Amino acid sequence: MSIARRDFLKVVGGASVAGSLAGYGVNVGAVTVSVPAFGFSDDSVPMNAANLCPMPTMVSEAHARYAKELDLSLSSATRGEVEAQKEVARSKLAAMLGTSADELAIVRNTSEANNVIVQGISLKEGDEVVLWDQNHPSNDVAWEVQTARSGGTVRRFSVPTDSGSIDEVVDLFVAAVSDKTRVVSFTHISNITGFRTPVAEICAAIRARKDDVHIHVDGAQTWGAVDIDLGAIECDSFSGSAHKWFMGPREVGLLYVRERHIDDIWPNVVSIPWGGTKDDAPKGARKFDALGQRDDAAVASLADAATFHEAMTPAGIEERSMMIADRLRAGLQDLGVTFVSSANPAFASSVVILSAPGENSRKLVGQVFDDSGIQTAGTGGLRMSPHVYNTEDHVDRVIAAISKSRAMLS
Ligand SMILES: Cc1ncc(COP(=O)(O)O)c(C=O)c1O
Repeated sequence: MSIARRDFLKVVGGASVAGSLAGYGVNVGAVTVSVPAFGFSDDSVPMNAANLCPMPTMVSEAHARYAKELDLSLSSATRGEVEAQKEVARSKLAAMLGTSADELAIVRNTSEANNVIVQGISLKEGDEVVLWDQNHPSNDVAWEVQTARSGGTVRRFSVPTDSGSIDEVVDLFVAAVSDKTRVVSFTHISNITGFRTPVAEICAAIRARKDDVHIHVDGAQTWGAVDIDLGAIECDSFSGSAHKWFMGPREVGLLYVRERHIDDIWPNVVSIPWGGTKDDAPKGARKFDALGQRDDAAVASLADAATFHEAMTPAGIEERSMMIADRLRAGLQDLGVTFVSSANPAFASSVVILSAPGENSRKLVGQVFDDSGIQTAGTGGLRMSPHVYNTEDHVDRVIAAISKSRAMLS
C-alpha cells in the first residue's frame, strides 16, 4: 500500500457518524472515518462514476441483509418492514433535494424517469420540443419516438464547450425557445463532454421567456455528485440513477415532478399499489413508481445510501469530488494533452474527458488500467469521472499511465 493511500485512509473522522460509517476513509465535509468503506481493491480502482459507482460496504451489506430477511420469511410483517424503507428513502431524498416526498418517484433508472416525462406529457400537433444536442438517447431519440406519435416536432441546438460566460450559454438556451415550444429538456452535466450547465440561470431565463414551457432536467450526472436544491431551480421535472454518483443500489432511480404537474403527466406503467379504479392513484409522484413487484431489497437499501450521503453532506461530497477532479485536470494540463471537457470553472465538472480517436479509446482504457489499476471509460474520448472514494494517489497513478500512452491521444 502506498503512503498516499495510507494517509487517505487515516484522514477521515467524525464522531457523529463513525458508527454507521465505520469503514470509510476520506475527508468529506466534516466527516472522518478510519477504514475503507468501499470493497474495491487498490489494483482495481473505479474512476468511472459517470457510468457506474460501487456501493459503500454499508449499503451493499444492507442490501444483502434485506434480501436475506425476505428469503428467510416472506411473511407480510417482514415484507412490510423492508417495503417501509422505500418511504424512509423518499423522505431522506426529499430533504436533501429540497422537495417534498410527494414530488418524488422511486423508479428504476434515469432512462425510465426521462421516459415518464417524454411519454407521459400530452403533446399536440405542432408542439415543439427543444433539446440540447448533448442529451442522452433516453432524453433525445425518445422524444423523436413520442413526437412521431403526437405530431409534435423536435428542435436541437448546440452549446460550444469553449463558451466563455454563463450569460452566453443562457442566451443560447433562450434563443432556442419559440412561441411553439412546449418542452425544453436538457442534461445538467453532459456525459459526452462533461459540460456543466448553469441549470438555475437557464431555467429562470426560459421561464421569463415563456412561462408555460415544461422544463425537464436529466440529472444522471449530478444526483449524488452535486449539492442540488430543486427548490431553487425552476425546473418542472428532474431525473437520476442511484447506481451512478449516488453510490446506491443498481436499478433504482429517481424522478422528481413538481407538484402542479403531477396530475397532467400520464404514468407509463399502472400496477400495484394503484387501487381498483383510475381515480385510485397512489399519492403524488408515487403514481409513477407503481411498477408492480420490485427488487424490494434494492429499493430499501436506497435509504442506507441516503444515510451515507447525509453523513458526508451533499456539499461535502461535491467539494471532495471536485477537489480530486481539479487535481486530475491540473495534472493532465501539465502534460499538454487536448481536452474535450471544459476547464472553465463555470462549466467544469467531475467528468474529465481527453480527446482520443475513436479507434484508440477502448485500447487506451485497457492500457491505462494495465499501467495504473484505474478504471476509466472510452466515452467521448478517454473519460475519467472521479468520486469521493478516489484519492490523490489514484489521480497521480492515472496521470502517469496517460503520460505513458499519450501518443494514442488526439
Ligand atoms: C445523462 C444521462 N442520462 C441518462 C442516462 C441513462 O442512465 P441509466 O442507464 O441509469 O438509465 C445516462 C447514462 O449514462 C446519462 O449519462
